[in-house]
Amino acid sequence: TEPILVAIDGPAGSGKSSVSRAAAEQMGFGILDTGAAYRALAWACREDAVDLDSEDAVVAMLDGWTYAITLQGEQRVQVTLPGGTEAFDVSAVIRTPEISGQVSRVSKHAEVRVRLNTMFREIVAASGLPGVVIEGRDITTVVAPDAPVRILMTASPEVRATRRQGELPGAIHEQVLADITARDAKDAAVVDFLNPAPGVTLIDTSDMNFGQSIQAVIDTVEEARGARP
Ligand code: C5P
Repeated sequence: TEPILVAIDGPAGSGKSSVSRAAAEQMGFGILDTGAAYRALAWACREDAVDLDSEDAVVAMLDGWTYAITLQGEQRVQVTLPGGTEAFDVSAVIRTPEISGQVSRVSKHAEVRVRLNTMFREIVAASGLPGVVIEGRDITTVVAPDAPVRILMTASPEVRATRRQGELPGAIHEQVLADITARDAKDAAVVDFLNPAPGVTLIDTSDMNFGQSIQAVIDTVEEARGARP
């Protein structure tokens, strides 16, 4: 049987990643972080000196690489480069500001998005789990528009910058805020951060702590499951 899908979209620092992960764990579901694939793809292209702005070249990378991500426990992301045999653990390197600053160069390509979306659906279908929380930018609208639970998680840019700063030791608030605002602007073509699509539940975490945000997700899932025939 197909896992129950919980689709969660939102911008950087909305709490989306950490909240989705904790909520999934509490429900015994897996968690698929789709941003990790875009990040790993940017890393792989840089590693192989592939032009991130060339759609054909990035698609060729997708044809030649292998990508693996764990859906439960500690997140592990592994990449094998085209023609290579070594599986690189890129879990940490894909979180660096260098990669964050480059990733929208690969995520802007339409064909890249189509291919990755197919890969995401395959990963979920093969998971063997009762449910999977899948989080990203276009999950509620493009990847899984038919998911029984769809959530848009937001928070003000100020709050998001403060949270991100906590994850980046030594970071300066103004710089983090500027980086977030710049990435929002690039990603805005893909997702509307403020207005949920019809049928999508908006969760604004600006005034919620971590535990309250997790509970808001679990409540939304339980409401939807209760509403199922
Ligand atoms: O969620 P995270 O910040 O890790 O995403 C990194 C980048 O990957 C985003 O800035 C965006 O460019 C891209 N992305 C995307 N679609 C998704 C998830 C991430 O375009 N579903």
